[in-house]
Amino acid sequence: MKNVCCSEFAPRKVWMKTFGCQMNYHDSERILYHLDKLNFTLVKSREEADLVIFNTCAIRELANNKFYSQLGEFKKIKLKRPDLIIGICGCVSQIEGAALIKKFKHLDFAFGTDCIDRLPEMICRIDGGERGFHINSWDQSENYSIETEITHNSPQAFVNITKGCNNYCSYCIVPYTRGREKSRSLVEVVDDVRNLVETRGIQEVTLLGQNVNSFGRENRETFPELLARLNEISGLSIIRYVTSHPRDMSDELIKVHGELEKLAGHLHLPVQSGSNSVLKRMNRGYTREYYLDLLFKLRRAKKDIVVSSDIIVGFPNETEAEFQDTMDLLEKAKFDFVFSFCFSPRKGTKAFQMKDTLSNETRSNRLQALQKKQLLIQGNIRKQLQGRTMRILVDGANRMDGVLKWKGRTECNRIVHFEPVGPNDNLRWHWIDVEILSSTALSAQGKLLFDHGLNKSK
Ligand code: 5AD
Ligand code: SF4
Repeated sequence: MKNVCCSEFAPRKVWMKTFGCQMNYHDSERILYHLDKLNFTLVKSREEADLVIFNTCAIRELANNKFYSQLGEFKKIKLKRPDLIIGICGCVSQIEGAALIKKFKHLDFAFGTDCIDRLPEMICRIDGGERGFHINSWDQSENYSIETEITHNSPQAFVNITKGCNNYCSYCIVPYTRGREKSRSLVEVVDDVRNLVETRGIQEVTLLGQNVNSFGRENRETFPELLARLNEISGLSIIRYVTSHPRDMSDELIKVHGELEKLAGHLHLPVQSGSNSVLKRMNRGYTREYYLDLLFKLRRAKKDIVVSSDIIVGFPNETEAEFQDTMDLLEKAKFDFVFSFCFSPRKGTKAFQMKDTLSNETRSNRLQALQKKQLLIQGNIRKQLQGRTMRILVDGANRMDGVLKWKGRTECNRIVHFEPVGPNDNLRWHWIDVEILSSTALSAQGKLLFDHGLNKSK
């Protein structure tokens, strides 16, 4: 690949729109890292941009539709400004890039999920006058190797540790858009995180992957081993990971949740359904009893661990009784929050071919009922926070009913708002002790007790 440096490029502006999950947001950050080297600056208004990039999501129809409607809007803009370059990447681009390039003449290039590091080469092709090209090849290297590049000054960083997924849940498009599962080596991840802590002041790291708890399988390494090694890095305060599969929640992993002090007290563990027959049709590889037992073991290892989950309602032919099994599981699991979705048929998956008699109305009624129930459950759980002192990392501020409030997250991932003491305080990225005064199902209100400054003290 040609070695490019920004001095060869005139300054230009890029506008980006990212759809989907944290993986996509993290990919967008890597795209910006490359574009920065090519002398592009990120702008907030699309009118100013020389380059527009859509990082797309294919997981559900809704995200897909949002992307298509925005792409459609750019048709008119491109007519007025033919020099504007429009590119797409991400999951839709991986599987449909070639077809989209053919169909939408205002689209200049498309690249797949494994081609981000080829961006300098793509921009050179664009600058050479090429248009309408598409690349979506998979990186053929035996091992997955990548160094984290960050473009921000926050103390929080996402670090990829695995890519792809081999699970083939029957509803899910990810194995087709992100390819076969591969892990980075344990030493590479540890060195990467240590470097982020030492050179970039990172204090909180979120390990990313489609299925992080199967990390290291092909290298005969394990995820608990990795967590233990990261726990030793001095200067690092919090280790999170997302997302995990219940089937790969080993006893060893449960044990380290009770032992490693830097491992966050929050775990996202998607259950998807509370019905054994639906779990079977989903190809999840576990039962509701197995899942509930995992929660029991986790809470025995770490009493206050906060668990969140993903649930799909209206899987093809889900009966009322099967749905009620999921409602029942909600009561037993006591999740702190739940991301819930109506089943969305994705072309190319097994579930897409299943004959389905369920109406969309039934699906959305079930979703509403589930969300209503979950809000009651989590509202009750969070009431118990009142009066407790918690340490949070402040990540921003919002105006609420005209009053400026700082916002932060506890180590167990709960949002807390509090009012500043002095009007000119800048508390962003400070570690603060707050007393929880009140709470709702979604957030808590606190009172500032102590400001630890920019470094968490024990
Ligand atoms: N329809 C609805 N929800 C889906 N998810 C994945 N695929 C689908 C689909 N086809 C949900 C799962 C997953 C989350 C990221 O998205 O709950 O855990
Ligand atoms: Fe999709 Fe299942 Fe892989 Fe998660 S584990 S990415 S739901 S196939």
